[in-house]
Parts: sequence; C-alpha cells; structure tokens
Amino acid sequence: MASEGTAMAPAINGSAYPITDHTFDAVVVGAGGAGLRATVGCSQAGLRTACISKVFPTRSHTVAAQGGISASLGNMGPDDWRWHMYDTVKGSDWLGDQDAIEYLCRNAPEAVYELEHWGVPFSRTSAGKIYQRPFGGMTTDYGKGIAQRTCAAADRTGHAILHTLYGQALKANTEFFIEYFAIDLIMDAGRCVGVVCLKMDDGTLHRFRSQMVILATGGYGRAYFSATSAHTCTGDGNGMVLRAGLPLQDMEFVQFHPTGIYGAGCLITEGSRGEGGYLTNSEGERFMERYAPSAKDLASRDVVSRSMTMEIRGGRGVGKLKDHIHLHLEHLDPKLLHERLPGISESAKIFAGVDVTKEPIPVLPTVHYNMGGIPTNFHGEVLSKVNGDPDSVVPGLMAIGEAACVSVHGANRLGSNSLIDLVVFGRAAGARAAEVVEKGGKQAALPKDSADLALSRLDGFRHASGGTSTAELRGKMQRTMQDNCAVFRTGEVLEEGSKLIHEVWRGRADLKVSDRSLIWNSDLIETLEFDNLITQAVVTMDSAANRKESRGAHAREDFPNRDDKEWMKHTLSFLDDVKQTVTIDYRPVHTYTMSNDIAYIEPKARVY
Ligand code: FUM
Repeated sequence: MASEGTAMAPAINGSAYPITDHTFDAVVVGAGGAGLRATVGCSQAGLRTACISKVFPTRSHTVAAQGGISASLGNMGPDDWRWHMYDTVKGSDWLGDQDAIEYLCRNAPEAVYELEHWGVPFSRTSAGKIYQRPFGGMTTDYGKGIAQRTCAAADRTGHAILHTLYGQALKANTEFFIEYFAIDLIMDAGRCVGVVCLKMDDGTLHRFRSQMVILATGGYGRAYFSATSAHTCTGDGNGMVLRAGLPLQDMEFVQFHPTGIYGAGCLITEGSRGEGGYLTNSEGERFMERYAPSAKDLASRDVVSRSMTMEIRGGRGVGKLKDHIHLHLEHLDPKLLHERLPGISESAKIFAGVDVTKEPIPVLPTVHYNMGGIPTNFHGEVLSKVNGDPDSVVPGLMAIGEAACVSVHGANRLGSNSLIDLVVFGRAAGARAAEVVEKGGKQAALPKDSADLALSRLDGFRHASGGTSTAELRGKMQRTMQDNCAVFRTGEVLEEGSKLIHEVWRGRADLKVSDRSLIWNSDLIETLEFDNLITQAVVTMDSAANRKESRGAHAREDFPNRDDKEWMKHTLSFLDDVKQTVTIDYRPVHTYTMSNDIAYIEPKARVY
C-alpha cells in the first residue's frame, strides 16, 4: 500500500501521534452496496480511488438485505418506471423530492441489468428472466393493481449484490483500507479535503487527502434497543457531518419493519408476505384486511407496523403476554419456501425455534431503516443551507446510501427501494466524481490543524477516566429511543425523551474507557461509535418533538393528520457538539420533477 511518509501530530495527554499520509483522487468511506458501487464507478473512470471500511467489505450490512431490489423490469407483467415513481412518492407521504424520485425510478432498470451482467445470481423465471416478487406499496397503473417489481436472489439479495460488487471493485484496481475506522472529516474553509482514520489492528493513524470524500457509512439503527441493523450500524458518517457543522435532514423519520422476530429483532423479509404470507392476531383474524382493504398485508411498512401496534394495544396480541403478532407461512408449498425463502426459514428456526412449514413466526415491528441522513442532491453531492440557499453544494463531499437523505424515501421508505437507492445513487456519485475530480490532480497542502479534531476526540476518549462505562450509557440511549421515539409518539413522551436523551449526551463527560492501548481497542472504538450514535439520537428526538403533524413513519397521536400547509418541508438539524445544543431549520421539498416525462404528483390522502 502506497503512503507518503509519516508526520507527527501535536502531543495530547503527553504522547504524540505519528500519522501516515495518503493522497487519492477519491476516497469512499464505507464498503456496503452504495460505497462499493461508487468505488467501482470512480475506479473505472480512472480516478485513483481508496475505499475505507471498518469491516471486511463483504461483512457490510448490505449483506443482510433479504427480499430484493425494486426496478420496473416488467418480467412478471406490465410495469413502468412512472408507476414505480408514483408508488414511491405516495409511500414517502409526499415528503420525497420528486426530481430525485424520478432519477431513482427511471434509472433503476439499467442499474439492475448492470448488476446482472456483472454476475449477481438473481432467481429466475421459467423463461430465464430475473424473478420479481410483490412488495408492500408497489402497484401497477398508479395504484390500481399489485406490481411484481422486486428483483430477488432468493431471500439473500444483498449478499449476492455485495459479493459481486466487491469482485468488480477489485477488478477495477481499487485500493482497499480494511478495518480502518474513520474518525473525522478534514474541512478547510467549507470544503472537505480528506478524512482521518485509525487502523484498528495496529493502532496507527492515517490521514487521507482527497479531492472528493464520499460517505457511504450507512444508517444508525443501533441508537435503538431493538433493530434489524447490525451492531456496526452506528451512522459514523452522520456523526462526522454533524461535528463538521453540517446539517442532517429529516431525522425524525425512523422506519419500523413490521416483521422482526419477537425477542431477537432479526429480519423476516417482507418478501415472505410477497410470496403469500399473512399476519394474524390472537383471534386468528387477518386484521390487515380491516386496516388496508386493498393492499392488506402488502400495505406500506408504516401502515402495517401501526396496525400491528394497534392490535397489540387493543389486547389482541398473541403469546402469554399478548405482546406480539403471528406471521403465517405454513400454508405455502414447502418447495417454494425452500427455493425462495431459505434464509428466513433458517432464521425462524434459530431465533424463534419455529419450523415455518408447520407453525407461525412470532413477530414485532422493529427499527429497520433511517429515512433521514445527510442531505444531498441526486448526484450525491452534500447540501447545506448557506446564505439562505437550501441547495448549496458542500465542495469535496458526497453522501450515498442510508447515510444520505436524497430525499427519495421522504417520510417512509418502500421495501426494496433501499437496495435500488444504493446502486442508483452509488452509480450517480461515481459518475459525478468522474466529472468534477481531476485525475491525478495536484492537491493543496492540508491545513496545519487538519488532524486536531480527530486526534483530540480519539485521545480524549482513550484517556476517559470517569465513572460510567460506554455500555451503560449506550444502554440508556437505546432504551430512551425505544421508549420515547417509537411507532406512535405524543408531545409529552417526546419532550420527556428529549430531556432524557440530552442527559445521556451530557453523561459523555463522565465516560470511562478502561483499555488505554491503540491496538484492537474495542472499548475505544465502541466509545467513538457511541459518540456518533448519541448525537444522531439527540437530533432524531428533537426533530420528532418539533414536527407537529403525522406523516409516514412519524405518527403523532396528538397531531393525527398530515399538515401539508405547515409541514410539507424537510427538517434540517444542526448540532453544536461543544455547547451541546441543537438548532432546527428547514428546506423546501422539491415539488418538481427532473424532466417533462412525468408531471409533479399532487399530494392526496394515502389509502391502501
Ligand atoms: O423485508 C425486506 O426484505 C427488507 C427489504 C428492504 O428493507 O428494502
């Protein structure tokens, strides 16, 4: 691996930190579906590209994606990208930016065929085409029929995509920096010029100078106690962006997946309902017929999660405690279960002790996805509000995937629109970087204090000698988010949540890290991750308390209706990490499309 020598950073706590310097045209942080797709694009365009990842690339959380990737291929019946766009706008509860949604849906088929040609082993129809299954909220003819739009590799679609993209990135000569933890961005007069990282296995520090940093660091599901997200989903890029004084957008919108395994939280794919599975309450009733007479079990996720919660609250939950719901697959042909749903059949056995061919799976809505994140345009360029301009591009910085808020998912994401978001916008970011980055271009020297923020945080936590362990404080944060920022919300519960989560944030001053070494110090890494999580938890709670309406995944019992007049706008949350304060501002929703091929889709009530 090429480097440019080692410099000494100023001494803190008595010890100086040597730093190894690197220069690249583009640096991608994160090696999930979005990060790898952008990496491939940058490398193929001839940019000298580094991909930095805290886990081995094929262990990134995309590997856990099950049900599939949406694209209007029309392999199972008529389909059209405009219908996909209509569903996505409606699913977003009219908070999505319609120019970005058009970009997503019209580019989706090409992005999927590209994956196919690169080797993704999709399941096949008898005619040899990519198999597509129905998913929630996906319709034909602007809501009239049920679409089969979700392209699947059995129920291991993310696994198949991730391995294929990693192979393509290696083929394109990307330089990987694996098990490097990105600590902080290097900003110079409003421009991002690099990133500082810790190599976890030997404790060395690395400073990457780059014309473009692309954050593909995923969501922050682990701010909650029960999530389908991996323990690595700590939203590290979002944390870095907040510390750089840049905003996060729409953080109040947290998606609960209807079918996490009761107790364990592991995902049971929506594809199981797409293949004919259904939910029942303690009376054996298929209650979704009451809540969504047309789409039933395939209504959008926010609707299904709320319906399940209402059944449980109404005393119709199953089990001894009447606190969960049954998902039935036992009526399906065992051959179909074996071919199309092998992964979840195994998960149900391991985590619930259930044989899906014989008995229902106990399930409960579980945190699954963050609609909010780093605001970007549809090229992947990061946006901030500067001098009143809500679409000001932050030079040198891009964000993609779950870390970003483009915003194509608005207030609620449709199932299978995440994988397509990763590859469409990963591809877009690679293409944009190829346009704006000069191959091998000369880069200015980094500012003298370029590593100060990262190293002072690292050193501060490394020597933290308070009385509270990271695990204890993280547990308090996760419980507070689970209890006070849940499927249903009220002003009172959110205000209490805000008080509690700010207390946890202040508790950071009393942290204790026991391991002082730098080599594979999981105590230190978990503390840096907690520090990223807590800032996101704080802006999530405060943004939720601030939004006084119900929209998509944000269901306020005290404000049960959507209020387009007052609230059809994106929340921007800025944070001062030193004073520990949050400031809220807004951006308008883009109420225009990208081309004249489709007109702006006017807001209306969401009926499924
Ligand atoms: O249910 C699932 O397979 C999840 C898909 C998604 O979140 O897009």
